[in-house]
Parts: sequence; structure tokens; C-alpha cells
Amino acid sequence: MKLVRLLANLGYGSRRQATLLCREGRVTDARGEVLYADDVVAHAQVRVDGEPLDPPQGMLLMLHKPVGYTCSTRDPGRVVYDLLPPRFRLRTPALSTVGRLDRDTSGLLLLTDDGALLHRIIAPRSNLPKVYEARLAQPLRGDEAASFAGGTLLLESETTPLKPARLDVLEPQYVRLTLTEGRYHQVRRMFAAVGNYVESLHRSRVGGLALDGLEAGRWRVLNAIDRRRLFEESG
Ligand code: URA
Repeated sequence: MKLVRLLANLGYGSRRQATLLCREGRVTDARGEVLYADDVVAHAQVRVDGEPLDPPQGMLLMLHKPVGYTCSTRDPGRVVYDLLPPRFRLRTPALSTVGRLDRDTSGLLLLTDDGALLHRIIAPRSNLPKVYEARLAQPLRGDEAASFAGGTLLLESETTPLKPARLDVLEPQYVRLTLTEGRYHQVRRMFAAVGNYVESLHRSRVGGLALDGLEAGRWRVLNAIDRRRLFEESG
């Protein structure tokens, strides 16, 4: 692939802007030799202003989403892309969130520009466990764990029952819920179905991946070990 296209696809600017970057001598190889827009160079060899390029297509990253950010590219409020380098929003193929977390939910959010990987993660048959911690407005009644585990619970206005889910009670009004599917507002609606209300919600794990100390608002690119770990645990 020609350098100008490589740079444009990674969000370094339009083709015109990428050509300008090259003309200004800001794009070099690893030894500092200036590169030209038409050169065909391996991604790993290219430097812009002396810095290696952002990861190539096939990027998977983990973001610790804070409360108050929407999983959307267009929203009048704050969006998760505001927490990433502005270039990431301009990449081709686009960087998409792997599923969504509500604006008021915090925790582990994956983003990728790899459509096949995205589908592999969210496909129902992947059975990847997603682990949430929820603070509840009301004490538990006692029958919720059985109700969630039964595989017969129907959410309002749906006709397919939920897959069995595991509920662990950590404190009288603080629980861990493990799901292997991802329906719209699922955790909040599950607790609504048993007469409760979720006051705060956090996702701590997806598959075998955890935030592992990544602070709210921070992100990191996932490597081959992380990817293996992601799929290591399927429910
Ligand atoms: N379930 C919810 O209700 N909200 C989320 O953000 C994720 C799962």
C-alpha cells in the first residue's frame, strides 16, 4: 500500500494532508530517511515526526469507560471517542465499540476496527461471559438468583427468554451478575423484572479480560496475549 493511503487510513489526515506531511519531510523510515507519498513501505518502518505509527488495521483496544460518556460517534454530549487520540476517529476501517455500555455504566469497553473479530466477540454462540457489578436500590428478595439462572426469564416487550445468568451476592444490595449475551440495557431490565432498580453499574470483565488496574478514562491497545485471554473463558 502506498504511504499516502497508509497514513490516510490511520487517520493522519486526508490524502492531501498526508501528502503534505510527506512533503514537509515529517515522514521518515526508521533510520530517519525522508519518505515520499508514493513509497510503499512496511508499517513498522514508518515514523511520523520520529514516532512509530499507530497500530495497523486489526487494532483491538480496551477502554475503562467512565460514567457520563456515550458509546456513539455522534452525540451532543461526551462520547467514548473523546477519550482516545482524535486520529482514531478518522481511521478507515472505522474503529467501533464492541457492543455498548450505557452512558451511566462504567467499566471495560472493547473497541476494534476488525469487523470479523467484533462479530466473533458479540456472536451469541461465542458465549463470552460479561461480568457486571451492580448496586441496587432495594434489598434482594431472595429468589433472584434462581430466577436469573432458570433460562426462562422474559424481559418486558421481548419474546425470547434470557439465557441463564449467574448472580453472586456480594453485599445485601451489591451483586455480581455474569451474562453470556448482551441485550439492550439487559442488567437494568433484569433487575426491573424482579422489582428492583440498579443505582450504579460497572462492567469488570469480558471473557478472560479484566481492567487490571486500568484507571477510568484510560485505554490500552491489546496484544496477542490479551486476545488469547479474551477467548479463554467462554461460558
Ligand atoms: N446492561 C445494562 O443495563 N447496561 C449496560 O451498559 C450493560 C448491560
